[in-house]
Amino acid sequence: MDVIQKVKEINSIEFNPMQEKAIKAGLFDSNVIVSSPTASGKTLIGELTALNSVINKKKKVIYACPLKALASEHFREFKKSILN
Ligand SMILES: Nc1ncnc2c1ncn2[C@@H]1O[C@H](COP(=O)(O)OP(=O)(O)OP(=O)(O)O)[C@@H](O)[C@H]1O
Ligand SMILES: [Mg+2]
Repeated sequence: MDVIQKVKEINSIEFNPMQEKAIKAGLFDSNVIVSSPTASGKTLIGELTALNSVINKKKKVIYACPLKALASEHFREFKKSILN
C-alpha cells in the first residue's frame, strides 16, 4: 500500500517542505533524525514511517517519548485513528 498517498488522502493534506525533505532523505529505508520546530509535523511523519513498517514490512513498531502524559495522549490518538 502507498501509505504516503493514503495518509495525504485521509487527512486531506499535502506534506510541508520539512516533511518532503524527510521522506526524500529515505525515511522508509534508513535511520533518519528529524529536528524541526514544535508543531511543524514531526509526529505525523513518525506515524507515516510506523504505518509503512507495519503494513508494508510486516514489522512491529515501538513508539517512545519522554513523558508519560505524552505517551498516554498519543496512545489515545493512535487508538482513535485505528478505530476510524
Ligand atoms: N502537512 C501537514 N498539513 C496540515 N497539517 C499538518 C501537516 N503535518 C502535520 N499537521 C498537523 O499539525 C499539527 C502538528 O503536527 P505534529 O504533532 O506532527 O507536530 P510536531 O512537530 O510533532 O509537534 P511537537 O514538536 O509538539 O511534537 C497536528 O495537528 C498535525 O495533524
Ligand atoms: Mg510531536
